[in-house]
Amino acid sequence: MRLWYLIFIFLHVLSAMIWIGGLMFFVTTMVPFVRKKEFQGVAGSIVEWIGLRFRYVGWLSLWTLVLTGLINLHFRGYRWPDYFSAGMWTGYFGETLAVKLILVAIIFIISAVHDFYVGPKATALWKENPDSPASRNYRKAASWIGRLNLVLGLCVLMCAIMLIRGWPW
Ligand code: HEM
Repeated sequence: MRLWYLIFIFLHVLSAMIWIGGLMFFVTTMVPFVRKKEFQGVAGSIVEWIGLRFRYVGWLSLWTLVLTGLINLHFRGYRWPDYFSAGMWTGYFGETLAVKLILVAIIFIISAVHDFYVGPKATALWKENPDSPASRNYRKAASWIGRLNLVLGLCVLMCAIMLIRGWPW
């Protein structure tokens, strides 16, 4: 049993590394790269290809986090009826988990807006006419949504660490 518990923790932490690491790569490396003058002719296509590829990897990671997260809770003795009882959401573990899951829900909504609407619209406009006001606005929106998602992801990570080790106060 313990082996399975460790395997699901491994998958949970690995998925978190892939998702947060991917967002960090976008913000720190990919966006500055495609802003370089010499790549302007192909920037829209590069962001589109990498964006669509990471969309697949990112959502696979997010759903794996939900599935392994639920399994982690099962290993900790929580069963479905517990989710609907106030008792589960009290104490440092319950309250931290509640904050973590609210942040995860917001991340799912923001990621869906970014990955299935703002992002594809930004790259399509970028390829069509990189200097159009619409292209600039959607690119700016896509970048800021991406950065917000990264900040929320780091907040979830801090919640996860406190979930195991308790609050600092
Ligand atoms: C963006 C989404 C998520 C990220 C980045 C994330 C990240 C993490 C990390 C890094 C840990 C290990 C913490 C440590 O050992 O110090 C962890 C633990 C945990 N996570 Fe998540 N998580 C996410 C979503 C979820 C969800 C959706 C659930 C529940 C449905 C969940 C439930 C748990 C539980 C119960 C643990 C403790 C595991 C244990 O040691 O028994 N997580 N999470």
